Amino acid sequence: MSLPTLGVGIGFREPFRSELFLHQQQVHFLEIVAEHYLDATIQKEQELELLAAHFPLIPHAINLSLGSAEGVDTDYLSKLARLVKQLNPPWWSEHICFTKAGGIDIGHLSPLPYTWEAIDVVCRNIAQVRRYIDVPLILENITYMLQLPGAEMTEAQFLTEIVERSDCGLLLDVTNLYINSVNHDNDVCSFLEQLPLERVVQLHFVGGHWHDGVLIDSHSHSTPLEIWKLMDEVVSRAPVKGVVLERDENLPAFSQLAAELEHAREIGRQYHRWN
Ligand SMILES: [Fe+2]
Repeated sequence: MSLPTLGVGIGFREPFRSELFLHQQQVHFLEIVAEHYLDATIQKEQELELLAAHFPLIPHAINLSLGSAEGVDTDYLSKLARLVKQLNPPWWSEHICFTKAGGIDIGHLSPLPYTWEAIDVVCRNIAQVRRYIDVPLILENITYMLQLPGAEMTEAQFLTEIVERSDCGLLLDVTNLYINSVNHDNDVCSFLEQLPLERVVQLHFVGGHWHDGVLIDSHSHSTPLEIWKLMDEVVSRAPVKGVVLERDENLPAFSQLAAELEHAREIGRQYHRWN
């Protein structure tokens, strides 16, 4: 997949909008949550125009539900296609999960069973999405609280089969990868060994928090050392085009986020991924 290098970005959040513009030099691009702009008010449309005038924007979708056996919602897909067309990004992203089932919106990124049947469903849905959106799609790994029964393969094999069969890139969330490895006692090295690293286009990173002995992907803390190490490992081996700090909760002063971006930039520089 030949895609441009974007460098170091952050998931846009309204509370730091004015501070963001003061640190424009340290932010190469923004990831925006697509759902915030699908039925946009005038204010949100103006915000999008302002952001697009200053940064490359990558749309990140949450509620397409690529794992839904009944197929994707075409109304939603049409709106998403319109947004992607408007922004004309080098790529856009969604998760490998389901958020809707039997007409019910679950409101949560829910894991799929690691089965051949689920792979068929996801690939069939991606084929339909491609009829609406011809911009390259990259797919993200999620966290899960429980491992569904009936798995016919590992999570890494499941992700690999989907991206290879559908010819998609990978949005490797190194925080999610780390959290799953801690909560389910998986080995990160063997996970990476099973992935087609040449397909990794973008990373997500941030810190979570511990609750009752479980690590939660709350996007609420600064990136811990273990996740920086994992990012270093992935950036050294995969042709990463961009990394995105995905902080939602407990937002600190933007200067602290900018310091994390600088750290990530340094990691990419070290392996000549960007300047
Ligand atoms: Fe993520």
